[in-house]
Amino acid sequence: METENELYSTWLEIDLDAIKNNIQRLQEITKTGVMAVVKANGYGHGMVEVARTAQDAGAMWCGVSRIEEAKTLRRAGITCRIMILGYTPPKRVPEAVAENISLTVYTPELATAYAQEAEKYGFRLHVHAKFDTGMGRLGFFPDEGVAFAKWLHEHPGLELEGIFTHFAKADEPNQPTTDQQVDRFESLIQQLAALDIRPPWIHACNSAGAINYPRARYDLVRAGIAIYGLNPSMESPLPAGFKPALSMKARLISIKDYPSGHGISYGHIYHTSKPERIGVVPIGYADGYRRLPGNYALLHGKKVPIVGRVCMDQSMLMLDDVPEATVGDVVTLIGTQNGNQITIDDLAADWGTINYEVVTNLATRVPRIYSGGNGLPEIDV
Ligand SMILES: Cc1ncc(COP(=O)(O)O)c(C=O)c1O
Repeated sequence: METENELYSTWLEIDLDAIKNNIQRLQEITKTGVMAVVKANGYGHGMVEVARTAQDAGAMWCGVSRIEEAKTLRRAGITCRIMILGYTPPKRVPEAVAENISLTVYTPELATAYAQEAEKYGFRLHVHAKFDTGMGRLGFFPDEGVAFAKWLHEHPGLELEGIFTHFAKADEPNQPTTDQQVDRFESLIQQLAALDIRPPWIHACNSAGAINYPRARYDLVRAGIAIYGLNPSMESPLPAGFKPALSMKARLISIKDYPSGHGISYGHIYHTSKPERIGVVPIGYADGYRRLPGNYALLHGKKVPIVGRVCMDQSMLMLDDVPEATVGDVVTLIGTQNGNQITIDDLAADWGTINYEVVTNLATRVPRIYSGGNGLPEIDV
């Protein structure tokens, strides 16, 4: 693919077959339904393309954070069930109903506002009640939740389609927190069952939970990071058979020979210590590439240091170890070249963050070039 791409200076390559493989692998492991979490532009991979691929791979749901994302999916022809995992303003209820989008409720006030809005138009809105079993974020506490789930269940404007919770530490497998959360959620499910309430979709697990907590798989696992082939954390790596889907590349656009002692890039934090060949690669912090020292890239299969400050649109490479480098060569910022690799986890570790933040910060201005999938366009700019 890389020799064919002469249209772009900087691009992401996304392997949709890897995403399909990862969803199928998750289905094999969990033997339950999968919600493909495609919020934040499909964790940077392209929301619509990932959602289409997920749907083809058999994902029953797509999960997003905002109604704008859900509507974009519908506009693109995504027909599977869609759930908004975060807050939706009550005024948007008619749009949610019209587009068959399920919403999250987590306070009586929000549920009442949704119910009023739905009844005003004679609609029935699909809702999932969220329970805070220990995450410390959105959700009813389980003890207040039973009465409320009953209220939701009986409300004419609302269809209690699901109940769910979210784990705080599923990616830290030796902590007791997740088992405690599952116990609380279980007890809630039992109390609702005693009232004859059993919504069709009970769900709890994110990717790490889906892999590490078989007893919490219920009807659905909500998987984000795993479908992109990325590890939930260092302590909770993916099992064998998952593949990362994303590479980041750019072309070398300039090479110059500098004398010893020449300052390189803003602030001259790097000076050549001898006559040095310095290349320019069009990747910068506006692409989501962090303005931190210590970055490196792959060129002709070799690790080359990025020197001087990362600029908004450009970075400088020290080319002394790659005498064969010429303008137009492909530089790999994320991915593999001749057996050498820079993973998203490597970047996350170097940048003092997590792989989730690295991928979700990849700028939309960077073209995504897709391979694999079913009849998808090769290039989407
Ligand atoms: C409520 C909820 N469920 C599931 C997920 C997916 O998590 P992961 O990417 O760890 O699988 C997220 C992600 O932030 C989330 O907020």
